[in-house]
Amino acid sequence: MPESTPTTSFPALPRADRRTRLQNSLLAWFGTAKRDLPWRRNRDAYGIWISEAMLQQTRIATVIDYWLAFIHSFPTVQDLAQASEEQVLARWSGLGYYSRARSLHRAARSIVADHGGEFPRDRKTALVLPGVGEYTAGAVLSIAYGLPEALVDGNVERVFTRVFGLRAVSGSAPLRKHTWDLARRCLHGASPGDWNQALMELGATVCTPGEPHCHACPWSRLCVARRRGEASAWPSPKPRRKPVELKVAGLWVVNKGGLLLSRRPAKGSMAGMWELPTQQSQCPGASALWLGDWMPGLGVAGPECLFEAKHAITHHRIGMTVLKGKVTRKALSSNPSTLRWFAWGQLENQPLTGLTRKALAHLAP
Ligand code: ADE
Repeated sequence: MPESTPTTSFPALPRADRRTRLQNSLLAWFGTAKRDLPWRRNRDAYGIWISEAMLQQTRIATVIDYWLAFIHSFPTVQDLAQASEEQVLARWSGLGYYSRARSLHRAARSIVADHGGEFPRDRKTALVLPGVGEYTAGAVLSIAYGLPEALVDGNVERVFTRVFGLRAVSGSAPLRKHTWDLARRCLHGASPGDWNQALMELGATVCTPGEPHCHACPWSRLCVARRRGEASAWPSPKPRRKPVELKVAGLWVVNKGGLLLSRRPAKGSMAGMWELPTQQSQCPGASALWLGDWMPGLGVAGPECLFEAKHAITHHRIGMTVLKGKVTRKALSSNPSTLRWFAWGQLENQPLTGLTRKALAHLAP
């Protein structure tokens, strides 16, 4: 945007004739351009809900395999409700944001116990479920049940900002409120599910954050930002939080049967998940010295670095140096609920952290 300080200004909400042109052109485009995604093959509310929970913060290309494996393990909401939290986290492992999986699990139990096994058809009731916010409620109700419920996510916000010429900082409270007003005003009453998906699809595939593909956009002739030659600059980016760099060292301790893992504390990030015994460090190179009295019975077999893994979670950039470890005492004195050997064949079904999965993918026999 040309201004150095982004201002906030919104034109009046669009009138009926403009809304109709926008609706007709977008729905016609979606009919030909929509991606073939596994959760789009039917209107099963359970499968759609799982997909929407996974798609928050995660790209579609990554979600497809996770969704297929999740539905294979828990084909119905009853199966999910009956599963243990460990089983659910194991299927979620690698997607990050594990509180989403815990909420999903608790919500499944509530759907079975309190709602006859069906995702509620009413927004207010759906919003009471753990992890279900305005966006998820709008998505499931419109896509699965065809109810006239609006939604706004980051893609919809960007698309609206450009097409309607909204001047505001991305993610700001006034923009959020205004885009929700627009979403409700523009909703296609007869095909709310297709309309909502088409908006998100346009944002994900055409009206992209960097250089949008305006030549392929059904709204290019209706778009305020495009007319001004400014599409790629809208909305104004929000000030970025500086990423926090973390360095950790993980120990790769193997015995005849498998691998030694430790369990993260029951509270905090990635609570209760299993990982390589890990130590935060400013200086992983100096491993042998400071790892000496790290955990009872554990040490470094040598300064040998087996693998460097990198992982990004929210604004953290984590680098893990995986070192070859050894058990220095015959009996591990720790509690088996926090430090345990896992046979190689068992690992697939454990709730592992993303970094540990990356290390396994490189190092497991
Ligand atoms: N992003 C999140 N949910 C989506 C959906 N149902 N269609 C397209 N993009 C999405």
